[in-house]
Amino acid sequence: MRMKMKLLLFLCCVLWVSADVLHEDLAITGCSDSDGENMYTLDGEEKWYADFKQGKGIEPQPPFVDHMSYPEGTYEEAVANQQVCRTNLKVVQKAMKDLPLENDPPSSMMIYSRDYVDLGEKNSLICHVSGFYPAPVNVSWTKNGEKVTEGTSINVPFPNKDSSFTQISRLDFIPKQGDIYSCSVEHLALTQPLTRIWEVEATKPGIGPTVFCGLGLTVGVVGVAAGTYFFIKAIKRS
Ligand SMILES: *[C@@H]1O[C@H](CO)[C@@H](O)[C@H](O)[C@H]1NC(C)=O
Repeated sequence: MRMKMKLLLFLCCVLWVSADVLHEDLAITGCSDSDGENMYTLDGEEKWYADFKQGKGIEPQPPFVDHMSYPEGTYEEAVANQQVCRTNLKVVQKAMKDLPLENDPPSSMMIYSRDYVDLGEKNSLICHVSGFYPAPVNVSWTKNGEKVTEGTSINVPFPNKDSSFTQISRLDFIPKQGDIYSCSVEHLALTQPLTRIWEVEATKPGIGPTVFCGLGLTVGVVGVAAGTYFFIKAIKRS
């Protein structure tokens, strides 16, 4: 009886927590001897980043946000930030007597499709690499053993809470039965690339998910009903 009451209390707590609104707005400026980044994010989504190769700012905002535009001069500011960062880096390197960098290879790497696979329908493969230091990684793709560059992109390194980095590479593709894709990652701390394979498989929309979902929902509803019943019974008794 007491167990059931606890369960109900826990459900309430979860509802309260989910009603809280807490956002994380992050500005990132980073540089190394050969590389640099300047990025603004909200809740882990990129709002703006400087593409130093193209010489301009990019706003790669996902379709579910109301587009936020950055004022003119943001890119020039990012370039200035890089100069400050490089100057600071030189000072720190001198002060630390060129201490060797820590090198951590990626601790996790996953490949998956963005959307449910429908043969012949445009889709994207995602290669998600995380837990490495320093940034960046190089990601390369193959299709049926042949290198692919068209339709590929990679985001700027995203800092994790533990000061390692995450990078996500994408490959636009059209699934065809039997095609095999791979994503390979190079990093300073790896002696050879890490590779993940992904294969297009025939996927018929089966009844599996429906049954699973129905069963889960039923168990949930019965659980809440039972909890409420015992809760009321307990209140009446006290
Ligand atoms: C990534 O590729 C560039 C250009 O080919 C190369 O100079 C660099 O060393 C590579 N980085 C890693 C970590 O392998």
